[in-house]
Amino acid sequence: MRRKLVAGNWKMHGRQGENAHLIDGVLTGLATINNVDVMVAPPTIYLQQVAQLLAGSKVKLAAQNLATEEQGAFTGEVSGVMLADIGVNAVIIGHSERRALYGETDAVVVEKTTRALSANLTPIICIGETLDEREAGSTLTVVSRQLRAVLDVFSAEDIARCVVAYEPVWAIGTGKTASPEQAQEVHAALRQLVATYSAEVASGLTILYGGSVKASNAQSLFAKSDIDGALVGGASLMAQEFIAICEAAALAN
Ligand code: PGA
Repeated sequence: MRRKLVAGNWKMHGRQGENAHLIDGVLTGLATINNVDVMVAPPTIYLQQVAQLLAGSKVKLAAQNLATEEQGAFTGEVSGVMLADIGVNAVIIGHSERRALYGETDAVVVEKTTRALSANLTPIICIGETLDEREAGSTLTVVSRQLRAVLDVFSAEDIARCVVAYEPVWAIGTGKTASPEQAQEVHAALRQLVATYSAEVASGLTILYGGSVKASNAQSLFAKSDIDGALVGGASLMAQEFIAICEAAALAN
């Protein structure tokens, strides 16, 4: 039985004071919620601060990016080994903003996943179609290509250590959420694709939905059998909203 996971992607938001306030709110809210896995992904510069704020709690820490290399002359980059060294547990890879704005291709996603796995970080691999692709009827072709790029390279054992996040690009930060039925259709197709590699891995794989998830739509999304939680952007910056989403996930568990 898969357990729901709610991960908050703070993107490039936060200041030390705001972070402390937000984590305080999240930890207070979570005190009475069991039966759900929770993660936050602050900007790289604040990972260490948030690691300290989370110490002793059950909330896990994720980074938003990692380098394709382990160390060396790569000015400005931060490697998976460094992230693990300061207590990071997971890392978001191939987010659509990184694909669109920083040229992160399927090949780069594979390289970063390799680095994450070897540093013992859980890769949260993001895939999703644009509005044009959806309107052209190529959603499943696009997301299958993005996922297959990873499935073709890694062993079943490695895939079992990954989390997949389906995030339709047209739903990210737009207030437009995929309907639970639209999301479920894609999640089921992704799980079927994984099953062609390993049925066992497919049934255990956590597949998150992301794109304008908020307290008001979380419950209906989590009710779908192949939606195992959410990658939450904007709503993860407000403790109350984020907690309400965690609550909905716990109830669905
Ligand atoms: P959003 O972002 O919830 O603000 O749409 C989700 C994401 O980009 O992970």
